Amino acid sequence: MLAVKLFVLCVSVAGFSDAAHLPSYIKPCSKDAPKEQLSACIMAQAKAALPLFTKGVPELNIDTMDPLALDPFTANAGTFKLREKNALLRGLSTMEVREAKWDLEKNTGQMKIFGNLTLNSDYEADGRVLVIPITGSGKLSVQMYNTEISLKYKIKRVKGPDGVEHLATYDLKPTQTYGHVHLHLSNILGGAAIGDTINQVLNDNWRDLFRDVGPSHTKSISHKVHEYINKLYSQVPFDELFV
Ligand SMILES: *[C@@H]1O[C@H](CO)[C@@H](O)[C@H](O)[C@H]1NC(C)=O
Repeated sequence: MLAVKLFVLCVSVAGFSDAAHLPSYIKPCSKDAPKEQLSACIMAQAKAALPLFTKGVPELNIDTMDPLALDPFTANAGTFKLREKNALLRGLSTMEVREAKWDLEKNTGQMKIFGNLTLNSDYEADGRVLVIPITGSGKLSVQMYNTEISLKYKIKRVKGPDGVEHLATYDLKPTQTYGHVHLHLSNILGGAAIGDTINQVLNDNWRDLFRDVGPSHTKSISHKVHEYINKLYSQVPFDELFV
């Protein structure tokens, strides 16, 4: 009995004292640096961390982001509705950090990443694109080449359950530009041969289509990434990220 109590005591003490630490590949920045220097530090930090952080951090219970499993979402283009579920996004770990701006006085941040992304999901489509009826459900694949995702967000410091300050980002505003997008929907109109022609039309008009359906994709991707980054922030004290 005593042994059990001691064991429980040890486990709970370990639980309290064992605060999560920053993965060693994330180098802290100085919070007192002028904002240009701070941004340069965050940029170097993000460049070094991206290929590793996107592989996941098991000790912080952060899953891999390459592939990144997305929550189900719907993208609209006029009357056309594209519902996606079981979506997996590949490519985040090889994206390039193009810009990082942080301002701890105004409490704002911005990050731009660039590269190629591939998404595979189950889809259900309904509605019309350029008067063509597109109804069906099946597999969707989307290749997004030379894609730049820009994330603007606000920053705050909050006291965690551990009694110390943590960073949190919120009010995320993502935008995107594409160099080129290629997409394929299997089984349009129940697999009729016209499906190939419709896919061709969709690809010929990818820029107009993705002006409408692109933002929902970016939102789904960036909110998931944002969630994972905040999982890191909520576990690692502010004082370990900024010294
Ligand atoms: C993205 O894809 C294009 C076309 O296949 C290729 O030329 C380019 O090198 C790729 N970029 C990266 C960062 O992999």
